[in-house]
Amino acid sequence: MTEIAFLLNGETVRVEATPTRTLLDFLREDHHLKGTKEGCNEGDCGACTVVVSDGSGTRALNSCILFLPQLHGKSVRTVEGFSGPDGQMHPVQEAMVSHHGSQCGFCTPGFIASMVAAHQQGRTDHDNVLAGNLCRCTGYAPIIRAAESLEGVQAPDWFDGDLHGTEVTAIDIAPTTLDALAHWYADNPDATLVAGATDVGLWVTKQLRDLPKLAFLNQCAELREVDLSGDLIRVGAGVNMTTLRELMEVYHPSYAEMIRRYASEQVRNAATIGGNIANGSPIGDNPPVLIALDATLHLRHRDVSRDLPIEEFFIDYGKQDRAAGELVTGVSLPKSAPALRGYKLSKRFDQDISAVCGAFNVTIEDGTVTAARIAFGGMAGIPKRASAVEAALIGQPWTEATITAALPAFAKDFTPLTDMRASADYRLETAQNMLLRYFHDLAGHTVNVLEVRP
Ligand SMILES: Cc1cc2nc3c(=O)[nH]c(=O)nc-3n(C[C@H](O)[C@H](O)[C@H](O)COP(=O)(O)OP(=O)(O)OC[C@H]3O[C@@H](n4cnc5c(N)ncnc54)[C@H](O)[C@@H]3O)c2cc1C
Ligand code: FES
Ligand code: FES
Repeated sequence: MTEIAFLLNGETVRVEATPTRTLLDFLREDHHLKGTKEGCNEGDCGACTVVVSDGSGTRALNSCILFLPQLHGKSVRTVEGFSGPDGQMHPVQEAMVSHHGSQCGFCTPGFIASMVAAHQQGRTDHDNVLAGNLCRCTGYAPIIRAAESLEGVQAPDWFDGDLHGTEVTAIDIAPTTLDALAHWYADNPDATLVAGATDVGLWVTKQLRDLPKLAFLNQCAELREVDLSGDLIRVGAGVNMTTLRELMEVYHPSYAEMIRRYASEQVRNAATIGGNIANGSPIGDNPPVLIALDATLHLRHRDVSRDLPIEEFFIDYGKQDRAAGELVTGVSLPKSAPALRGYKLSKRFDQDISAVCGAFNVTIEDGTVTAARIAFGGMAGIPKRASAVEAALIGQPWTEATITAALPAFAKDFTPLTDMRASADYRLETAQNMLLRYFHDLAGHTVNVLEVRP
């Protein structure tokens, strides 16, 4: 048991908790705050959304896959805590009432929480903000109208104090320095590291696994550092997808656009780049792009740091080049790669895992391909380069004929699986089509996959 403290709707709460107790269970069972709902219990529906604040700002998170230690020192607001000091409704609540944004009401607290956080941030990209909140009876139009009606409306200052969180002492399961973390993990290599818990959370809520030994990474500020000196961007392993997306909007807009489709606002606010790489998933969205960028992965075991090209990290399905007790500390990628493009293909546009994810970075000099880095997720047991396709392009003129001639090489590189997301044939064909799309994209013929043309 560990004593965890945070502000809950403005009041400090202290709780002796097992580290894998979720915030959702704590709210509903211990505090009878039943406005926050349990829909899926796996981060998919947004019914459990709460607003979390600290010195870095205010954001929406899914409380069903948020462990209590992740909140140590922060502030949490639930739907019961959005009204003003005199009991007046929050502008978001008023807007939802006047635009008829609720019918059965099950999803409503989660929508309100997402909208309160977004309103606080002055956001107007309502589709992105609400893609992680599912409503099955009202329909989204009245909810979006409610959100639009709030544009330009000043956010109330009722929760400004939340940004200070609450005074806490460090907890032993959440090291505050990289040195302490690296030594602890080297001494406890059988422990589970928890970063954003968007994977680990499901091991608990869905697989009902006991995780007896844990270390939480979110108190280690060094892991969230971003270094922009020189030609590289060094991103700490603890940087979440929201921050990464903002960064990539400046340097690699196509990568940023891909991250926009990574899960949902709530999941992006939690999931870290380190977790997305370390879990070794063949369908993680970041690795193909990072391989195409020839990124360098940084690892550390106790006091020994080492670097390796990220593509070498993924050895085989479920097997990575990471020793027991070794941490991922960050990843470095070039600032400039104007020909980089990333394409995500999934059954739904929003909030879905990739069936196929392709990343392309081809260098063309005087009309001839002089270098190519092409990598895919969803096409093999690991994120993998398309070496035969690259070889078929290098030295050739950059023409549609060259692309067409290179397409059969995909079958040499990949023998994809058939699963619930896509058949093997579909994967192979769409991967080939992505190369064609890339050719047209570089020629200035960009495609918006949301556009339906006759
Ligand atoms: C609803 C939902 C939608 C999702 N959609 C997508 C999607 O669109 N695209 C996608 O790619 N993924 C998606 N995911 C998967 C998930 O978000 C990612 O795998 C995520 O990046 C994991 O990061 P995390 O910080 O949450 O890791 P955690 O869950 O905390 O950890 C994941 C694994 O990495 C290890 N780990 C974490 N940090 C480190 C470190 N620094 N060093 C060593 N090991 C470490 C942990 O021990 C664990 O084994 C989705 C998940 C959910 C719940
Ligand atoms: S209950 Fe569905 S996202 Fe948490
Ligand atoms: S109002 Fe019923 S699910 Fe949204």
